[in-house]
Amino acid sequence: MAPQLDQCSLHPGTRAKRVWIAIAVLVVVVVLVLAALLARRASQRNSSDGDTALLLQITQYGNADGSARTDPIVRGAYLARAGDCVACHTAQSGKPFAGGLGLNTPFGVIMSSNITPDRQYGIGDWTAAQFLRALKEGVAPHGKLLYPAMPYNLYARVTDKDLLDIFAYLKTVPAVAEAPPKNRLPFPFNIRQLMFGWNLLFFDPSPFKPNPSQSIEWNRGAYLVDGLGHCTACHSGKNFLGGDTDYLQGYDLEGWHAPEITGNRYVGIGNWSEADVMAYLQTGGNRFSVAAGSMGEAVANSTQYLTAADLKSIAVYLRSLPGSKLAAPQSVASTERIMALGRDLYLNNCNACHKTNGEGVDAMVPSLVNNPGVQAPGANNVIRTILIGGRGAATASNPTSAQMPAFAWKLSDTDVAAIATYIRNSGGNAADAVDVKQVQALRAKLGADRPLEIR
Ligand code: HEC
Ligand code: HEC
Ligand code: HEC
Repeated sequence: MAPQLDQCSLHPGTRAKRVWIAIAVLVVVVVLVLAALLARRASQRNSSDGDTALLLQITQYGNADGSARTDPIVRGAYLARAGDCVACHTAQSGKPFAGGLGLNTPFGVIMSSNITPDRQYGIGDWTAAQFLRALKEGVAPHGKLLYPAMPYNLYARVTDKDLLDIFAYLKTVPAVAEAPPKNRLPFPFNIRQLMFGWNLLFFDPSPFKPNPSQSIEWNRGAYLVDGLGHCTACHSGKNFLGGDTDYLQGYDLEGWHAPEITGNRYVGIGNWSEADVMAYLQTGGNRFSVAAGSMGEAVANSTQYLTAADLKSIAVYLRSLPGSKLAAPQSVASTERIMALGRDLYLNNCNACHKTNGEGVDAMVPSLVNNPGVQAPGANNVIRTILIGGRGAATASNPTSAQMPAFAWKLSDTDVAAIATYIRNSGGNAADAVDVKQVQALRAKLGADRPLEIR
C-alpha cells in the first residue's frame, strides 16, 4: 500500500483517483465489517448463559460432594483454584490476591490488580454486575478496558453462577490496602482504549456451548479447559497481536514451549492414558514426563487441587481432540557424527539420572523416550533444560520434587546441540536435528553461563 501512495503523489492524475476510490471502498468495507462484528457481539451478549439443564449438569459435575456442591463460598474457593486466580494475582512473596505480579508480554509488563475485598485498592466496592462484566467482557468499572493478560476472553465461557461464587469467596479473603505498582508499557500499548480494537478483532464473548452428542464428562472437560483452566492461554498458537489460533496445538512463551496437548500421538498426549494425564496434573509427573516451568506452577497452584472427576474429564476431553497433522519424520541416523558425539556426552552427563535407555525414574526423573515434549518442534524445552536445569512441580503428593542440574557452564553450544539431537532421535524418538545456532540464541536469551574455552 505505502509504495503505491508514494507513486501516486509523484504522478497525480488517474492513478491517484484510482487510489482514492480504492481507499474509499476500503473504508466502506471496514465500516461494514465493524458494524457486522458489533451486531454479532450484541446478539451474543443478549443470549444469556443458555441456562439449559445440560449446562447445569456440567457445572455441577466434578465439584466434590457435600457442602462443595451447594455452599457458594466453598464452591467459589474450589473454582478460584481451577481458575488459578491466586497465581497471577499474587506478587512474588506478596500477600494473596493483592496483585502486583508483573506479567511479561511481548508489548511490555502488565501488573495484576488487587482483587482482595479492600474498598479502596481492591474490589470491595464492586457490585456483582461489575465483577461479571470485568471477568466476562474485560471492562472494569468506569469503562476501564482490561488488557487480555487477564484472560477474560476465556472466562467469558464460565457461567455467571460459577463466577458469582468466586466473587463470594473473594469477599472472604483478607483485605489488603496496597496498590500494585504501575504497568511498564510503552506507547501506544499504554492506551487502554486500544483494547476496543483488539476485542473487536479477537474477542469472542459467546458463552460455553455444550455439545449434546458428547457425555457430561467430556463437556465438563471442555468447560474447564476452555474456561477457568485457561489452558489455551499457553497451549494454543497466537497471531501477531496475541489472538488465539491453532487450538491447543502448542505455543512458545517466555523461552518455553507449551506442547501440543491433543490426541496427536507424536507431539500430543495421544499415547498417554487417562490415568497418565490425571497423574501429571495431580502430582506434577507421570511415567513419561515431569511438569516444570510455568506448567509446574499451574500444577502446584491449580490442577493438583482438582477433584479426580474433574481431572478425568480434562483427560477425556483432551485425548478426544484430533490435533495437528504433525507426524514423526525419519529419525537422524545413529551413524551420523552428531549422534555419536551426542551419545558419548549423554553417557557421561545424563546417564545417572535418566538411565542408559532414557527411561528415567517414574514421576521423578522424566523419561526421554516416549515423552512428546522432548520431540516437540523447536526443541526449546530440551535445550533450555540442558542449559539451565529445572525443577519439577512440588505438590502435596510429591512435596520434594526433583531437580535437574544446569550444564551451561560445562557444555558448549555444539555439545548441547549434539545431546539434544541424540535424545530426540534415540529409543524410538524421531525429530529434527538441533542446530548449533538454536542453542547459541537460547543461551544468549536466557543469559546462561558458557564453558571456559581452554585451548
Ligand atoms: C494469567 C494471569 C491471570 C489470571 C489467571 C487471572 N487474572 Fe485477573 N488480572 C490479570 C491482570 C494482568 C489484570 C490487570 C489487567 C489490566 O490492568 O488491564 C487482571 C485484572 C483482574 C480484575 C480487574 C481488577 C481491576 O481493579 O480492574 C479482576 C476483577 C480480576 N482480574 C479477577 C480475576 C479472577 C477472579 C481470576 C480467577 C478466576 C483471575 N483474575 C485470574 C491477570 C490474571
Ligand atoms: C502458564 C502457561 C500454561 C498454562 C496456563 C497451562 N500450561 Fe500446560 N504446559 C505449559 C508448559 C510450558 C509445558 C511444558 C512443561 C515441561 O516440559 O516441563 C506444559 C505441559 C503440559 C502437559 C504435558 C505435555 C507434554 O507433552 O509433556 C500437559 C498434559 C499440560 N501442560 C496440560 C495443561 C492443561 C490441561 C492446562 C489447563 C488446565 C494447562 N496445561 C495450562 C504451560 C502451561
Ligand atoms: C541429577 C539428575 C539429573 C541429571 C544428571 C540430568 N537430569 Fe535431566 N532431568 C532431571 C529431572 C529431575 C528433571 C525434571 C525437572 C525438569 O523438567 O526441569 C529433568 C528433566 C529433563 C528434561 C525435560 C524433560 C521434559 O519432560 O520436559 C530433559 C530434556 C533432560 N532432563 C535432559 C537431560 C540431559 C540431556 C542431561 C545430561 C546433559 C540430563 N538431563 C541430566 C534430572 C537429571
